[in-house]
Amino acid sequence: MTKPIVSAKYYAARFGQHIRENGLRSAAVLVGKNLIWPYCGWLIRRRIQAHEQFDLKHGLDTQTPIPIRDLEIWEPAAQYAVHYEGAAIPLVHRILRHLRTDLSRFTFIDLGSGKGRVLLVAAQYCFKSVIGLEFSKTLHDIAQANLSNFVKQGLTQTPPTSINMDAGEFDFSQFTDKVVFCNNPFTETLALRILDNYELSLQKTRRLVMKEY
Ligand SMILES: C[S@@+](CC[C@H](N)C(=O)[O-])C[C@H]1O[C@@H](n2cnc3c(N)ncnc32)[C@H](O)[C@@H]1O
Repeated sequence: MTKPIVSAKYYAARFGQHIRENGLRSAAVLVGKNLIWPYCGWLIRRRIQAHEQFDLKHGLDTQTPIPIRDLEIWEPAAQYAVHYEGAAIPLVHRILRHLRTDLSRFTFIDLGSGKGRVLLVAAQYCFKSVIGLEFSKTLHDIAQANLSNFVKQGLTQTPPTSINMDAGEFDFSQFTDKVVFCNNPFTETLALRILDNYELSLQKTRRLVMKEY
């Protein structure tokens, strides 16, 4: 069955009639209801496209999400793990720009660094060091290839490192000043254990900067 072709003029006329019959307030609600979701969908599509272009431009693989079932599910860390999905690059830049301090004193640590997208961003700033902890060997290998490609293109100020390990086992006291970043990597159970580790590290070192979203 062919769809009837309805012109913009038709919708404008109907909208005008709605205003006359129900008032401006009701018309505004109607516009909100009908425009907000398409607008959100458009924003999401635009964000995905921008990240795909970023990957393409630099020869990277950071965009495709990977469910936990396709990773090392036999690892103890997998039971608390959230699937891989890269953070929005502009948001990470915005967070880092807000750290108005001498970054060269700080080690940047991404807990659950996946394919290393956040490390690629942090490496563009003048941190003392940039490291990411990733429990999945599959993702860690992809991250290493990404990081090496990015460094070769001369796009980093600080060489980034991906470490294949469970963030729950990490000893934070090795680093004095640190920026700790999390993009929804694991469930609350592990997050609480890691916060306990922080507290322990605070007893050994005095300064800590923590950033989460
Ligand atoms: C939502 S992704 C975020 C990836 C990256 N931080 C980013 O924002 O682009 C969460 C990542 O945390 C990893 N992860 C989950 N539990 C972990 C753990 N216990 N130790 C290390 N990595 C973990 C997952 O494998 C996944 O790659």
